[in-house]
Amino acid sequence: MMQDLRTWLEAVENIGQLEVVSGAHWNLEMGALVGLVAGKQEHPALLFDKIPDYEKGGRVLGCAMTTPGRVAVTFDIQGNPNHYELAEEFRQKLPGWEKGMRSFPPKAVNQAAFLENIQTGKDINLWTFPSPLWCELDIGRYIGTGDAVVTRDPDTGEINVGTYRIMVHDEKTLGLFIAPGKHGRIHVEKYRSRGQDCPVAVSFGHHPLVFGIAALEVPSGAEYNFLGAVRNEPYPVFIEEITGLPVPADSEIIVVGRSPAGKTREEGPFSEWTGYYASKQAQAPIIEVERVYYRHNPVILGVPNSNPAQSAYFRYYRGVIKSAMLHNELEKAGLVGVRAVSISEAFGEQWVVVSITQRYAGHAKQAALLASQSRSSVHMGRYVVVVDDDIDPRDIDEVIWAICTRSDPVQDIDIIRRTWSSPLDPIIRKPAEAFFNSRGIIDACKPFEWKDEFPKEIIMDQELAKRVKGKWGDIFV
Ligand SMILES: Cc1cc2nc3c(=O)[nH]c(=O)nc-3n(C[C@H](O)[C@H](O)[C@H](O)COP(=O)(O)O)c2cc1C
Repeated sequence: MMQDLRTWLEAVENIGQLEVVSGAHWNLEMGALVGLVAGKQEHPALLFDKIPDYEKGGRVLGCAMTTPGRVAVTFDIQGNPNHYELAEEFRQKLPGWEKGMRSFPPKAVNQAAFLENIQTGKDINLWTFPSPLWCELDIGRYIGTGDAVVTRDPDTGEINVGTYRIMVHDEKTLGLFIAPGKHGRIHVEKYRSRGQDCPVAVSFGHHPLVFGIAALEVPSGAEYNFLGAVRNEPYPVFIEEITGLPVPADSEIIVVGRSPAGKTREEGPFSEWTGYYASKQAQAPIIEVERVYYRHNPVILGVPNSNPAQSAYFRYYRGVIKSAMLHNELEKAGLVGVRAVSISEAFGEQWVVVSITQRYAGHAKQAALLASQSRSSVHMGRYVVVVDDDIDPRDIDEVIWAICTRSDPVQDIDIIRRTWSSPLDPIIRKPAEAFFNSRGIIDACKPFEWKDEFPKEIIMDQELAKRVKGKWGDIFV
């Protein structure tokens, strides 16, 4: 049986992690609910149905991959791992998946459940779906947050699948935001530079693994292969008639059309992962829709944002898998002694921490420089901190303690200038000619040359702690 969003929902319901929410409004209520729920480490996925104005059909899934348990279900990782086990599992599995990609080209199928309903010509109406207004200052309703945007490179024929935000401008037009340097943007720009329209196909609901891979920095042209490698079987695609693009056969909603060369419309502001509406309003490409396909009572996969200081687990999946990717990238680049790596689930690439067992003078700086420019961490990074191996890089209190006590700013903080940023970067004043930022790299390890003489840390003896807790336990209840 094909794995799709509905089989995923069943699997998550079976482990008691699905909450069906009836009657939450598309106008801000769904956004508020997912924001509040994702503030706690353990929380259910939310399946919104009977959405006002859409009582006859159309649902939205939120918080799909915001806990270790559901990330494990999505990637078919057994044994109910906790965060640390999951990160290690990814580290072990990623090289095999990357190697296996060549063996799993996508498989074209001629059946897809989304053929149940088709809109063409004057019947096309994008308001058929309960696209949420996620946050108060969003310019409009975003149908695409956990989507998969399929484009073709006009030179090489290579297919890219990326997650890029998509708003509904009107019943037949979508607005598309792709940051500079992203593969989908390169494709659209190639068509534009030749004065040609770019064919685009978008899936708005699918097994969360499709989003999981589309939103990861895997090589362009490899997303479907990567999906196949994770599943250990070729991923099924349907060759869409108008665009000729391969779209996810398990999709709930497919919208196809073209992005015309000469046309843009105002897009943004939108509530972004940094916790700001930072890209503001700007001209962005549109998609003129030529056909819509959807399943009965389709489900949109929603992956919105909130303020990360309050809703820390929104980006959980991305934090855990990208930490594992970066760990492997550092080792591949020849870095030794890496104990653990954390790309923050709350603050993303802006807060990267690497813990190492220091082996030689300059080791910590090498780790910091590599971690600031690796594939998984380079885009829109900000701070990289390197700590000793007694510090858990995911524990923000421990990391701040190390910065405050083991680093001296004049010696241990360096700045790298003119690095790859994005319109989403809140510190870049808009409009801007180009999106550069800088990186602050902090060596918060004990100074290598006298690390063995460094003052002893206060460490509470475990036996003593156990003993006093046993004796005066009622203090702790
Ligand atoms: C929930 C979510 C939403 C995203 N939205 C956008 C977006 O609107 N525009 C963008 O350029 N990247 C966005 N990204 C990041 C890209 O999906 C990611 O960088 C991906 O690797 C892009 O694919 P590419 O490397 O093939 O270009 C988003 C990521 C996530 C997790």
